[in-house]
Amino acid sequence: MSNHLFSEADHAELYQKYRPKWNAEFAEKVVAFVKEKRSSPLLRAVDIGCGSGQSSEILAPHFQHVLGIDVSEPQIAMASANNKLNNVEYRVAPAESIPVPDGSVDLVMCLQAAHFFDFEKFNAEMDRVLVPGGCLAVAGTIYDKFSQDELTRISHQFLHQGPIKDCWHERLDRYVFTEYRTLPMPYDGAVRDDSMSFEFDLTIPQYIDLVSTYSPYREFCRRNPEDNGAFLQNLQKSLYEATASTKPVEEVIVHATFPIFLLLVRKPEV
Ligand SMILES: C[S@@+](CC[C@H](N)C(=O)[O-])C[C@H]1O[C@@H](n2cnc3c(N)ncnc32)[C@H](O)[C@@H]1O
Repeated sequence: MSNHLFSEADHAELYQKYRPKWNAEFAEKVVAFVKEKRSSPLLRAVDIGCGSGQSSEILAPHFQHVLGIDVSEPQIAMASANNKLNNVEYRVAPAESIPVPDGSVDLVMCLQAAHFFDFEKFNAEMDRVLVPGGCLAVAGTIYDKFSQDELTRISHQFLHQGPIKDCWHERLDRYVFTEYRTLPMPYDGAVRDDSMSFEFDLTIPQYIDLVSTYSPYREFCRRNPEDNGAFLQNLQKSLYEATASTKPVEEVIVHATFPIFLLLVRKPEV
């Protein structure tokens, strides 16, 4: 559907370098939900839309086998090249046709990805692949909340009111900015957890590197090749000026909080 958004090799490399990595605390919360109704050992998890390896490895201590799948070949190539774990495997495959047998998956996890799927086919696929009592965890995050309000205002102005405004995929507006409250789930009774966040101390150029991985920015570059980095330079300049720091820009550290929203749901046991 929006697969071209992540299909370029340099995008996969930027992703690997700059995207926030999901952590062990997040994995433990997800696994605790799975274990609420399971006494047998957890055999298989599938991380869908795994990107270049931001998340699948956090499941490795909890499952015998973890499969990370993504429709983007460059993302999977990058994830495989960096994989050091024997029980984690990466494959190119879509969320709507997962390469595993029926009733063989204890957990499907989709991080920053579920909003791109064909929901009808994906939800039918959940019913096919999950064991009875198996779980689906979908989570996302909204970037660009700084501890200094003026920085939040500036980044918001650049990313949502300027020339990039029209480059946001409509599904980001419809599902991510509503924190997945509108995301169709395959089963009733989804549990919501809004207690976690990514916390970052990063330099302004590091933040600019992160923005360079955003799909709307990539779309903006495709539509405006003559921009040639000017958008990011202007954003960096405005943020730097707002800090009123006398240090060189590479040394100015800002604090950002990216709230995480997590939905957990279980396939009925009978
Ligand atoms: C925003 S990235 C998220 C990557 C990673 N999970 C993370 O948290 O940073 C979304 C990923 O979903 C993948 N994707 C989009 N539609 C997909 C589909 N239908 N099936 C599998 N992967 C898909 C994209 O190729 C991309 O790598």
